[in-house]
Formats: sequence, structure tokens, C-alpha cells
Amino acid sequence: MKLSPGTIMKTKPFYLTLLSLLIFGVSVGFNLVADSAPHEEIPVPKKQVQADAPFDKMMQVLMHKRCMNCHPSDDRPRQGEDSHVHNFGVQRGKENHGLPGLQCQTCHQSENNNYSGVPGAPHWGLAPKTMGWQGLTRVEIAKNLLDKEKNGGRDLEEIVKHLTEDALVAWAWKPGVNADGKAREAPPVSREDFIKAVKKWAEDGAKIPEK
Ligand code: HEC
Ligand code: HEC
Repeated sequence: MKLSPGTIMKTKPFYLTLLSLLIFGVSVGFNLVADSAPHEEIPVPKKQVQADAPFDKMMQVLMHKRCMNCHPSDDRPRQGEDSHVHNFGVQRGKENHGLPGLQCQTCHQSENNNYSGVPGAPHWGLAPKTMGWQGLTRVEIAKNLLDKEKNGGRDLEEIVKHLTEDALVAWAWKPGVNADGKAREAPPVSREDFIKAVKKWAEDGAKIPEK
């Protein structure tokens, strides 16, 4: 039998060689791919919304009216569950403590007065305008929170300290009763869980999501 190229291609050994070459080639290919990225983890698809993520918890508190009523973007504190403009024409004033003659401390003491319905806590006053959050999205608020030009020159550690220890922040969970004798609503996350969430968020690099 003559071995012309045509007949070689029809023999069994030819196909076996071709097959083993193919297998060899594919396995070398796999090894190359594996070697080029030896330690990369296989990405696991992430859930779009993690309701219990620390950032979500933290922002649910910051956006609550107990905080927002004191962090307006204009010069008037807000009151109540519907965040109406503060009665008696109360204004921010130069130092965020009201106009001369109508200072916050005239009415607000260092504790709630549950007879008159005037809330109180140490150093009661309006958050400075640069810390006004009303009308901002949660992402904008979070950026504001970390911006030293706006947050009173605080670094992350000081922000965490403020959020977890400040008397006005703490007041939100003991807000007392209003002038009609009705209990004010506390934020939707307990103070304990809020503190945990803030610390965890900071520990993980204080990342701000896109939305
Ligand atoms: C009675 C008014 C009042 C209430 C209520 C209040 N704040 Fe404030 N907040 C202030 C004032 C005043 C400052 C500025 C204090 C300073 O710079 O020393 C401030 C500053 C801050 C700051 C630091 C500056 C910044 O913007 O990053 C944070 C954070 C903050 N508040 C969070 C909260 C949170 C969260 C709540 C609700 C749980 C809350 N505040 C409730 C008055 C209030
Ligand atoms: C003339 C007295 C008076 C003065 C002055 C005054 N307040 Fe008030 N404030 C009240 C009373 C009364 C309430 C309670 C109203 C209610 O809840 O029914 C109140 C409620 C509030 C609340 C609402 C808390 C909430 O979440 O419902 C905030 C915030 C507040 N005051 C901030 C201020 C700030 C800041 C100043 C100074 C710039 C100030 N107030 C000056 C009497 C006063």
C-alpha cells in the first residue's frame, strides 16, 4: 500500500495522534490561564441590595426626622413628626443658638421637659449650615459627613466618636413627649445596632455606595 497524504489521514494512528495533540494543547492552555491568575478569587455575584449592610442601617438613622429636624439646609429648625418649621419664629442666629433674645437655651434645657413638651439635651443648638442635610440624598449626606470642609474639620475617627457618643445624637433615642403629650418617634434602628453599624462601616473603609 502506498502512503500518500490522503491515505495517512485515513489511518487510525493519525486520528489518535491528532486527538492526543488536541488534549495536550487544551491542557497547556488551561495551565497558562490558571498560572496567569493564580490567587484571584472566583467572583461571587453580589446581591444588589443588602438591607442589613452597615451603611444602610447608619443612613436610616441619619435621614430620620429626629436628626433632620436639627440639620436643616436653611436657617429654621424643624419640629415634630411632619418636620414643620419651628414655632415662635425661631432662627439659626449667628452662632447656631438662635437670635439674641430668643436663644435655644431659653426654652431647651439639658433634659427633656415632659410637662411642657420641650425636648432637651446638653448643648442644644442647630447644626451649622455646612452640616445641613435636608433635601440631600443619602449618598450626598455621607459625602458631606466625611468632608472636613463641611463637618467641622473632623476626621473619620472623630465622626465615629460623634455618631456614637454625642449627647444630641443620643437624644434621638430618648426624644421624650411633644407639647400634646405624645411620645416622639425614635429612629428605626436601635441605638446599639446603630453604634455597631457605624463602627463596622468605618472599619471596612467608610465606603460610600453609588446610590
Ligand atoms: C438638637 C439638635 C440636634 C440633633 C437632634 C441632632 N444634631 Fe447632629 N449636630 C447638631 C449640632 C449643633 C452639631 C454641631 C456640633 C459641633 O460641631 O460641635 C451637629 C453635628 C453633627 C455631626 C458632625 C458634623 C457632620 O455633619 O458630620 C454629625 C455626624 C451629627 N450631628 C449627626 C447627628 C445624628 C446622626 C443625629 C440623630 C441621631 C443628630 N445629629 C441629631 C445638632 C443636632
Ligand atoms: C420659645 C421657646 C423655644 C425656643 C427659643 C426654641 N425652641 Fe425648639 N422647641 C420648643 C418647643 C416647645 C418644642 C416642642 C414642640 C413639640 O414637639 O410639640 C421645640 C422643639 C424643637 C425641635 C424638635 C425636635 C423634634 O425632633 O421634634 C427642635 C429640633 C428644636 N426645637 C430646635 C431648636 C433650636 C435649634 C433652637 C434655637 C435655634 C430652638 N429650638 C429654640 C421651644 C423653643
